Amino acid sequence: MRILINGNMGYIGPVLVKHLREVFPDVELIGFDSGFFSGCLVDKQFFPEAYLDRQYFGDVRKFPPDILKGVDAVVQLAAVSNDPMGKAFEKPTAEINREAVVRIAKLAKDAKVGHFVFASSCSVYGAGGEGAKSESASLNPLTAYARSKVGCESGLASLAGPDFLVTSLRFATACGMSPRLRLDLVLNDFVAGAIASGEITILSDGTPWRPLIHVEDMARAIEWACTRSAEQGGPNLIVNTGSNHWNFQVRDLAYAVQEELGNVDVKINTNASPDKRSYKVDFSYFQSLAPAHYPQVSLSEAVRGLAEGLSEAGFHDPDFRNSDYIRLKVLNDLKAKGRITENLDWAKQPLIPVA
Ligand SMILES: NC(=O)c1ccc[n+]([C@@H]2O[C@H](COP(=O)([O-])OP(=O)(O)OC[C@H]3O[C@@H](n4cnc5c(N)ncnc54)[C@H](O)[C@@H]3O)[C@@H](O)[C@H]2O)c1
Repeated sequence: MRILINGNMGYIGPVLVKHLREVFPDVELIGFDSGFFSGCLVDKQFFPEAYLDRQYFGDVRKFPPDILKGVDAVVQLAAVSNDPMGKAFEKPTAEINREAVVRIAKLAKDAKVGHFVFASSCSVYGAGGEGAKSESASLNPLTAYARSKVGCESGLASLAGPDFLVTSLRFATACGMSPRLRLDLVLNDFVAGAIASGEITILSDGTPWRPLIHVEDMARAIEWACTRSAEQGGPNLIVNTGSNHWNFQVRDLAYAVQEELGNVDVKINTNASPDKRSYKVDFSYFQSLAPAHYPQVSLSEAVRGLAEGLSEAGFHDPDFRNSDYIRLKVLNDLKAKGRITENLDWAKQPLIPVA
């Protein structure tokens, strides 16, 4: 078996690759990534791509079809991957997250790839109402990022068939330790604040609902999607991916971190205007389809894993919201230095004139 992971050099990719290497020791694993965050490693002496058989560098908008030869499953992670980045880079967000993905899926179908796994997002539901959103709920994407996921899901649906199983995993918000850690995720931010300054600052009034999933549970779900049969969900499966036990109010996440780590102040912004991105999600369908791959990590394990990982890395930066752990900051720095363009292309000119 051969699995291609597009966008393997981000936050989720390294955890996924390690997981796939563990459960499928003999599978050929191939990575493809533009490398925007290649240097953003917690441990600069360990390159997580070592678990792969091959690594390609390139842009999904110019994807070389030859890479698909002999591939059984494509996992599509590559994306402009959150709301703030989607706002700052709106045009390439549509190109990378939707147009390129649908094009690669067409190429994959032509190349007789059997499974196409797309990392979608629960943010497609937008502002929430009272009940938990099941897959049949109406979509209300509020941002360029969420709109790109909705557009991509529908573009992929038209390609699915008995020999080309498409799985769009509508993931909850990720959390947990990774070799390329991000601190622009709610739980990770809270643990980092607790460790760096003994303080968790909630930017909202703390009431919004947010479903979460641990990055290792995301990897388990992707493993399932790479190997599922058509009987498990049909040719085009769109499924909420997370756990019914992991719908949290943001303030309760902060209190959970406080309880787990101790000696932490929680500051809530009581003057904040209501956060529109509040939603609960129903993950029952995923549970019924893939009971053995339903999330397993507990909230306290997630918090402890982050705290241990950050402590091992010697992390103590109270200004981490302005550091390389924040994806938008990394892209803005690359742009300011002329290394990437505003269309998220690597600059073609050498930075230092060659004598
Ligand atoms: N992290 C979350 O909370 C979450 C939740 C739901 C869904 N997802 C989705 O999961 C996927 C992976 O998320 P992540 O957190 O690892 O994101 P990430 O930003 O950490 O990683 C994305 C990777 O894609 C690569 N990439 C971006 N543009 C590219 C291009 N034009 N060509 C080639 N590679 C490119 C980047 O270099 C990076 O390595 C994304 O599609 C994201 O939307 C993430």
